Amino acid sequence: MFEWKQGQLFCEGVAVEKIARKYGTPVYIYSKDAIVKQISHIKEAFEGFNYLITYSLKANGNPYLLKLMINEGLGADTVSMGEVKLALKSGFRPNTIVFAGVGKREDELEFAIENGIKLINVESEEELNLLDSIAARKGKRVDIALRVNPDVRPDTIEKISTARKDSKFGIETESVERIFKNFKSKYLNIRGLHIHIGSQIFDWKPYKEAIERVEHLIDEVEIFDIGGGFGVDYHGGNREFDFQGLRENVLKPLSEKVGEIITEPGRFIVAPSGVLVTRVLYRKRNFVIVDAGMNDFSRPAYYGAFHRILNVHLRGKGKEIFAIGGPVCESTDVFGKEFEIERPERGDLLAIMDTGAYGMSMASNYNARPRPAEVLCDGETVKLIRRRENLDEVIWKNVP
Ligand SMILES: Cc1ncc(COP(=O)(O)O)c(C=O)c1O
Repeated sequence: MFEWKQGQLFCEGVAVEKIARKYGTPVYIYSKDAIVKQISHIKEAFEGFNYLITYSLKANGNPYLLKLMINEGLGADTVSMGEVKLALKSGFRPNTIVFAGVGKREDELEFAIENGIKLINVESEEELNLLDSIAARKGKRVDIALRVNPDVRPDTIEKISTARKDSKFGIETESVERIFKNFKSKYLNIRGLHIHIGSQIFDWKPYKEAIERVEHLIDEVEIFDIGGGFGVDYHGGNREFDFQGLRENVLKPLSEKVGEIITEPGRFIVAPSGVLVTRVLYRKRNFVIVDAGMNDFSRPAYYGAFHRILNVHLRGKGKEIFAIGGPVCESTDVFGKEFEIERPERGDLLAIMDTGAYGMSMASNYNARPRPAEVLCDGETVKLIRRRENLDEVIWKNVP
């Protein structure tokens, strides 16, 4: 958990400033406690039903964090052969891994079949036919789910809404009906339906609405995967996803119809559990230039996403309004335009809050910048869980 103690930001038992001094900046710092607490909220909602929480690896695929998910009894939600391999190598049992994705290559489908994962979530009729031919060639029976596009518009950011008819995800309801009616295979076993309606959702109603749209198809399957999308309050307030409402209005009725419910949260589990710590390089006009850039953390540049930024050591210098940007040569490399923050000076450390999800997993080497280090706090213990990339790796690694 991140807390203030005598004007200093702490991750569990250790001052963030101390960690940054040891490991350098920019550095992602995660709290084990915070991850476990987030998971417990989800488990509470599903308690008593037959369920599987498959953590969405795309949010943060650090193998140490994945081991933590395994210890918590979670499975893995994957979207590429790389993620399936990452899940297997980190220790997830194959029968806890689901594999979705609109553009799975033939070799990726083969890999998933060979490794006997729990479910392949099929996203088009062409993929269904290809998968059938691969399974037949291998002589293997394969459990699949159909990802339905229920054409709903949850009240969330346009760019992370995934279940509208005009989005590329899933199979439209009419085609799913046709598949159930006509598709015959000796090898594919359609065991489930899958929806994922978007991200940053706080209300159970869009889940209910999406499920209602496919209600007439539920009798055909034993498993229903409701996807991820549980929201977090990036403003640090007390806006919370309504898990109690989800339990009563969505999970209870659904559990009477299917044998197993899967959910695929990513952001909710790891976003509030991480901060990106960066050092102030320069100030000019109303700008503070820091040593983390959009290559290290891209959500503000990609989505215009808001993240709080705090000075990690308050010295009572008074607050002012600043724009905070990184060193990358793009005008979108700005973490925010109007932050009221204790006046930062050259050398100060700032924490970009709630960056545990879609932070490091979306980091790049743009501008030939090495990706940051990652550390995990557990009480008084701080473990380096990924060292900082070095310049040789960035520049020469894949050059023949
Ligand atoms: C199919 C699928 N499942 C789960 C997730 C995880 O979403 P979230 O991190 O919002 O929980 C995503 C995110 O894009 C997704 O595409």
